[in-house]
Amino acid sequence: MHIDQTEKRWVWITVIMTVIMVGVLALFAIGSNIHPPSGFEPIDSTRLHLSEEFAEDNLGVKQNPDGSITITMVAARYGFYPSRIEVPVDTPVKLRMASADVLHGVHVPFTNMATMVVPGYVSEVNTVFPKTGDYSLLCNEYCGLGHDHMWSRMTIVPKTASKGE
Ligand code: CUA
Repeated sequence: MHIDQTEKRWVWITVIMTVIMVGVLALFAIGSNIHPPSGFEPIDSTRLHLSEEFAEDNLGVKQNPDGSITITMVAARYGFYPSRIEVPVDTPVKLRMASADVLHGVHVPFTNMATMVVPGYVSEVNTVFPKTGDYSLLCNEYCGLGHDHMWSRMTIVPKTASKGE
């Protein structure tokens, strides 16, 4: 088979450019310590209500023995449940959220809490809320006609006022 010289050259140029670009991406990712979310945790989204952790009675805010807080929530069209939570200020918080139906995202403006909630997986965010006040949990992935109205309320309360509920 005969390949034209010019064509051969372009094949090489394309290969070299691809290698350079992938190399730049890899170096940038390594240099900036970017990596995919760790702790891949699958869950059956259609049977959340039957799971121990995401059963309705077990959702909400819980205080751990070490004083930190675990928030367990379900995202479902169209809300985050429970729809109102109270969380103490200046306390390590672990949010664990699972979707009961489609892809959602949760974003709390003015904080660094934001994650996708992919059906089939548990999403986890660790953070601390430094300021008291009312915050909204907003859905930031289009999930259907009610997407714009998908939000819940989180109140960051002074430490003493929190009963962990
Ligand atoms: Cu849920 Cu958009």
